[in-house]
Amino acid sequence: MQRVENEIARLIKEIDYDEVTRLFESLSGGKRLRAKLILKIASEHDEAPLLAAIIELIHAASLLHDDVIDDALTRRGIASVNATDGSKTAVMLGDILYSKAFTELVSFDPKIAKVVASSVTALSKGEMMDVKMADAFNFDESKYLDMLYLKTATLIESAAIASALLIGKDSQKYGVYGKNLGLSFQIIDDILDITSDSATLGKPAMNDFVEGKCTLPYIHLYEALSEEDKKRLSGSHAKKIDLSEEIWIKDMMNEHKCIEKSFLLAQKLSNEAMQAVKDDQALVSILETMIKRSY
Ligand code: FPP
Ligand code: MG
Repeated sequence: MQRVENEIARLIKEIDYDEVTRLFESLSGGKRLRAKLILKIASEHDEAPLLAAIIELIHAASLLHDDVIDDALTRRGIASVNATDGSKTAVMLGDILYSKAFTELVSFDPKIAKVVASSVTALSKGEMMDVKMADAFNFDESKYLDMLYLKTATLIESAAIASALLIGKDSQKYGVYGKNLGLSFQIIDDILDITSDSATLGKPAMNDFVEGKCTLPYIHLYEALSEEDKKRLSGSHAKKIDLSEEIWIKDMMNEHKCIEKSFLLAQKLSNEAMQAVKDDQALVSILETMIKRSY
């Protein structure tokens, strides 16, 4: 991973603007899940750290823009760039990171460049769907999962496919792994938004629903509720909820096993990912660690 950090630092330095370096250094690097995945798949290839750095820059850019779109004041437990330096700066920094990543990407084999580039269109489409879907209470599970695939899983899927192509491995198999890992990861994130406290999350708990995002446990809850309670739940959508409403939602979720049901889907997807790469112990352990961070 040190090689990836070095590549990231080199690319930032090449941008040759102190303000960008300062802002980039103020970000928290996060888990670097996508980079770790690329190194696990293509570690022997000399270009793997650069590919990983490119994907991490794209991911960082997408989060900078996402925090502006979501009006989020914290990211990974620290103040977001839009909070400290304003939304304009966050958008511009995102643009610089994103275009620098693409400048580097074009030196790769066109097949690799295309799979990564088209996943960025997909993730941007997913973000727009996410925002649109938050306008009203969504209780359509397949619509939700389609959006989740685009918004979160496509970049992980393309990281897996691109690194498999780089090293000449079966890209289809790794794509199935990346897609299911991404979906499973996001569903667990959605669960943690409900089951963890804000100190652990580094952002307010149950924030998804307040932001209008009806994640899987809320969709399961809606399905299970009486007509009257359905109205009560959808009436709280996209609003600041008080403690008694928060307790009611959590109690109802407990009663109807909504968290367990969502976790079962995450587990199913994670098993499908495992099946695709069952001979690759390193990739299997990424899945195991991810599934264990759950509630
Ligand atoms: C986080 O979702 C957001 C994403 C994973 C994708 C955001 C994508 C864009 C803004 C498209 C623009 C892309 C580029 C490269 C500039 P979330 O809000 O559900 O998660 P969070 O809790 O981490 O904020
Ligand atoms: Mg967000």
